[in-house]
Amino acid sequence: MKDFVLKGNICYSKSKNDLFTQKNAYVVCVNGESKGVFAELPSQYMELPLVDYGDRIIIPGMIDLHIHAPQYAFRGMCMDLELMDWLNQYTFPEEEKYEDLDYAKKAYSIFVNEMQKGATTRAVLFATRHRPATELLMELMEQSGLVSYVGKVNMDRGATEALEEESAEISAHVTYGWINAVKDKFARTKPILTPRFIPCCTDELMEKLRQIQMTYGIPVQSHLSESPGEIDFVHFLRPDNAFYGEVYNDYDLFGKNDDINTDVKTVMAHCVWSTAEEVELMRKNGVFVAHCPASNMNLSSGIAPIRKYLDLNMKVGLGSDVAGGHSDSIFRAMTDAIQVSKMYWRYVDQEAKPVTFPEAFYMATLGGGEFFGKVGSFEEGYEFDAVILDDTSLAHPQELTVLERLERAVYLGIDRHGICAKYVAGEQIIF
Ligand code: GUN
Ligand code: FE
Repeated sequence: MKDFVLKGNICYSKSKNDLFTQKNAYVVCVNGESKGVFAELPSQYMELPLVDYGDRIIIPGMIDLHIHAPQYAFRGMCMDLELMDWLNQYTFPEEEKYEDLDYAKKAYSIFVNEMQKGATTRAVLFATRHRPATELLMELMEQSGLVSYVGKVNMDRGATEALEEESAEISAHVTYGWINAVKDKFARTKPILTPRFIPCCTDELMEKLRQIQMTYGIPVQSHLSESPGEIDFVHFLRPDNAFYGEVYNDYDLFGKNDDINTDVKTVMAHCVWSTAEEVELMRKNGVFVAHCPASNMNLSSGIAPIRKYLDLNMKVGLGSDVAGGHSDSIFRAMTDAIQVSKMYWRYVDQEAKPVTFPEAFYMATLGGGEFFGKVGSFEEGYEFDAVILDDTSLAHPQELTVLERLERAVYLGIDRHGICAKYVAGEQIIF
């Protein structure tokens, strides 16, 4: 069913600062796309099936721009170290297990099942460097009905021996085989090129990934300027580069480059410590920032200057970064983003106004949604992703506005037990 009408209290971002709400309104979906929100149902849609959600809240689905599926199993554990030690001691040993398809099946089934039940409708995923387990994850994501990009990770140095790929040659060879096998296989699940980060990728591998990207034109995801120790190490590995992001750019894996007429859709997680030059190149190239505040707190990475990115009109969305982040909830990421921005304002820069609730909601929907095309809004022409929230468990002595109810539902984590329906690209997800 891709043609229908939903009725309820509708909320969505029209722009960064404009969080629109309308009580008892109609949102129309035709052929998987929104036709807009109406106070009265236009006569041409009267014949469509209508689902009346009464006093519930209808919002666009949440977009998770950065999450590691194989780390889901140890979320909420092993939170005592900074990034580089955390990777070496906990993360790499866990990811080694995905060599074993039985383990991968068990773990990825739990992950996908939970994602299906949450408020996220689209996600950009890291898998591991193992091709069979990555394809299994793609199969499961496809069956879930969610839309995703999934990356087989490339890493030929800087990890445990069991997790590193044997050589740049082998890493590239496996990646070619993987992309050929999956690029046209699924309707909702697409491959994304995934150099883990510069400490794990030799120059030879990066050069091969450039060739692969040019051959297939697929998008790119990686990590950038997350943690001081990581950045020092990148300077040691690449002393001639002025800044970290320039390394990705040297291999044409950093957004749009007008000089050579390329436009590589790119998302970089974190960007906590990006220098002015790095920020300017991200802005110019249209690189998406996946802001992952929970991870940045858990790994003591720092606070990303999101006010600056928003004010520069950069492309910014939210990421859970499980298991650096302990929760896959983008509701939680919204409130974390607001809270850390207040600490940034208090401790770091009194000119950097805290992120507002409408801005956080924008990043969680329209901001991140742009990575998937026209996604994250109920404006006409947007793909129809919707989540219906039931906040009746949150009793209140007064009559609240829809906006007040939405903010409270996000802060109080209603996505844990109050989702009563979910639609992705016009299809209802049954969970
Ligand atoms: N940098 C390289 N790999 C990772 C990872 O798995 N998580 C985080 N947070 N940062 C990384
Ligand atoms: Fe990450």
